[in-house]
Amino acid sequence: MAEDMVRLDYGYCTSEGLGGDGAGVTPELLQARQQRIDQVHQRIAQQRKQGELGFFELPYQDDDKLQPIREQAERLGSFCDTLVVLGIGGSALGATAVDMALAGFWRHAFERKVGAMRLLVADNPEPRSFGQLLENLDLKRTAFNVISKSGTTAETMSQFMVVKELLSLALGPDEALKRLVFTTDPSSGNLRLLAGREPIPCLDVPPNVGGRFSVLSAVGLLPLACAGHDLDALLAGARDMAERCSLPGILENPAYLFATLAVHFMNRGRNILVMMPYCSDLFGLAQWFAQLWAESLGKAHTLDGELVNLGQTPVAAVGTTDQHSQVQLYMEGPLDKLVCFVTLDDYGNDLEIPRLYQDIDSLSYLGGHTMAELTQAEARATAAALASQGRPSLALRMPRLDEYHLGQVLMLLEAATVAAGGLLKINPLDQPGVELGKVLTYGLMGRKGFEEQARRMEALDLSGKYQL
Ligand code: PA5
Repeated sequence: MAEDMVRLDYGYCTSEGLGGDGAGVTPELLQARQQRIDQVHQRIAQQRKQGELGFFELPYQDDDKLQPIREQAERLGSFCDTLVVLGIGGSALGATAVDMALAGFWRHAFERKVGAMRLLVADNPEPRSFGQLLENLDLKRTAFNVISKSGTTAETMSQFMVVKELLSLALGPDEALKRLVFTTDPSSGNLRLLAGREPIPCLDVPPNVGGRFSVLSAVGLLPLACAGHDLDALLAGARDMAERCSLPGILENPAYLFATLAVHFMNRGRNILVMMPYCSDLFGLAQWFAQLWAESLGKAHTLDGELVNLGQTPVAAVGTTDQHSQVQLYMEGPLDKLVCFVTLDDYGNDLEIPRLYQDIDSLSYLGGHTMAELTQAEARATAAALASQGRPSLALRMPRLDEYHLGQVLMLLEAATVAAGGLLKINPLDQPGVELGKVLTYGLMGRKGFEEQARRMEALDLSGKYQL
C-alpha cells in the first residue's frame, strides 16, 4: 500500500485482539467470507456498469463538470464574503463535514484565509436559529446556495422562499437573483422549474447520485470551492480510494473489509456503530457518516421483500472529549457496540507541553511530551482498554488531515456502506421510511392532493392529549 493512503486498522476486530470470547475474526473466517463478498462485488460491478452507483464515478468527473462550479464560486466570491447553504440531510452534511475538517472546528470564531468565503450551512428551518442567522447577515455580502436534489423538500423550499423575499425587499429583485445559485436535478423539481423562469444559475446533481452520496458532486463542491478548499486534491484522494475499493478481495479492498467487520459484529448483537475521530475538526465527518450509515442500512425489508427491520445505529462521538462522557458506557454497558476510531498520524499543528511542576509526579510526566502524543496515546489506550474487555474496535488511520486524505475517507465510507447493504441484502440507496412523515406533514400544512393524509393525521395525532 502506498505510504500516503488511509489505512484500515482492524487488529481489535480479530480473535487475537479480542481474546477468547470476543467473537473476533480469524484469517480463516475472513477467507470464508470472501465467497459472499464475491457476490457483492459482482453486483456492485454490475450496478456501476448500469450507472446505478453514480457516486463511484464522481472522482473521475472531468473539467466540463467542474468548470461551472468553479465559475460560480469565482463569481460569488467577487462580491460576497459569505455563502449560506440552504439544504438538509445529504444536501448539507457533506459540505459541513469537509469544511469543518479543513477550516477547523473553531472556524466561525476567526477570519477565513484571504479569498475564502465564510461557509454557513443552514440545515434546519426551525425559526429560532434560522431567524437569528438571517437577522445577523450582511445581505449585500451574502450569497445563498439552495441545494435540493428533488426540489420539493419542504424545509429547504420554505427557507428559500423566506430568503428570496428578504433579499428582494432588502436589495431589490435583480440584486436578489445575483446572490442565488441552485443545485438540483438536471431536469425535474421546483428549483429547475424556477431556474427556467428567472435567471438563477443552476448546477446539476447527477440523477444517479443520491443525496447522502453526493458530497463529491456540485452539492458539496460548490460550497467547498467557495470556502477555498482544493477540489482537485479532494477528488484525487477519492479517486485513489475508488481504485482500492474496486478490488475484489476482502484483504485488498478496505470498503469490503469495513463492511464485512461491521456486519460480522452486527450479526453478533453489536447494533451500534460509534464513529469516533480523535480530532474535533472531524466531528462533522462523524455526523455525515451517521446519516450515510443510518439512512442507507436501516431498512424494513430485504431486496426479496422479507421483513427484517435491520440496521446498525450510528453514533457520532469525538475523542478525547467523549472519553469523559460516553466511554464508561462503551466499556461497561451492553455488548452492543462496535467503535470506529479515526486517528491522525500527523496533526499538522502540535503543542509541546512545558516541563512545569517537576516536583508533582502526577503533572511532571506530561512535560516534554506534545499534545499530539497525548491524544494518540489516549486513542491507543482506549482501543486497548475496550479490547481487554472483548469489545471490538477498528480505526481509520489518516496520515494527515487535508483534502487528499479526506477524499479517501469519504469514498471508503461510501463504498463500505454500499458493500454492507449488499451483505445485508437490502437496498442502501433508497429511504422509504422517511416518506410517511413527509406526506403527513404535507397534510398538516394543507398541501393540495394530501387531504387524505390530513385526515389520517387527525386520527393519529396525540399531541397534547396526555400531558402532565
Ligand atoms: O440522502 C438523502 O437522499 C436525503 O438525506 C436527502 O439528501 C434529503 O432528504 C434532502 O433531499 P433533497 O436534496 O431532495 O432536498
